Amino acid sequence: MSSSFLQSIEKGKAAVAPSVLSADFTILADEIRAVEEAGADFHHLDVMDGHFVPNITFGPMVVEAIARVAERPLITHLMISDPAKYAEGFVKAGSDVVSFHYEAVEDGHLEIIRIIREAGGAPGLAINPDTPLDKVRHLLGDIDLLLIMTVFPGFGGQKFIVDGLDKIREAVAVREKEGHSFVIEVDGGIKPENAGVVREAGGECLVAGTAVYRSGDYTEAIKAIKG
Ligand code: DX5
Ligand code: ZN
Repeated sequence: MSSSFLQSIEKGKAAVAPSVLSADFTILADEIRAVEEAGADFHHLDVMDGHFVPNITFGPMVVEAIARVAERPLITHLMISDPAKYAEGFVKAGSDVVSFHYEAVEDGHLEIIRIIREAGGAPGLAINPDTPLDKVRHLLGDIDLLLIMTVFPGFGGQKFIVDGLDKIREAVAVREKEGHSFVIEVDGGIKPENAGVVREAGGECLVAGTAVYRSGDYTEAIKAIKG
């Protein structure tokens, strides 16, 4: 069963989650407030460990600081090799959703989902562009959010991989057929120009890093991505 705030996403409308990765970290609190005022529904927090992906960002301390200024829910995207060890800490830091990568662990996915839920968070599962939906089908009944990557994780500002659209459609069909209730979040290369096809395919929570934080006008950018 999805968390109530995720279910608050209006049917047929997409929510926008600006990715803090592209924010100006020298004025992070201002950036968080500015995107909220501009209409952001959630904040997307990209945690990278320099091991699962070739980049390092921030850990629970920064999530905790963001939680102190943010009024909108926090969706944390763990791109780390050992989510079983660290997931609970990210819930405790104030993440509403903690998503970890299917590819990060051999097995034990259900155990990580349980850890997140027991800590009081909503569990999310992220899949890379080359991971077929079939691989995670057995987990779809246990998660609140499916994070479909439309770039290979590691960096902001990459080009949207169009094949992701079919995976979104497939996730919608499987959810319907099997009676699941996870929210579909789409992450990577989303801009006003392609947001329409992502929404039409079934993307419900659209992540946008550069397209929001590097735009001159946060309100216009978020409005355009929401459609
Ligand atoms: C990529 C991250 C994304 C990234 C999106 O590894 O998971 O969330 O910040 O940035 P854009 O929207 O610029 O592709
Ligand atoms: Zn992300």
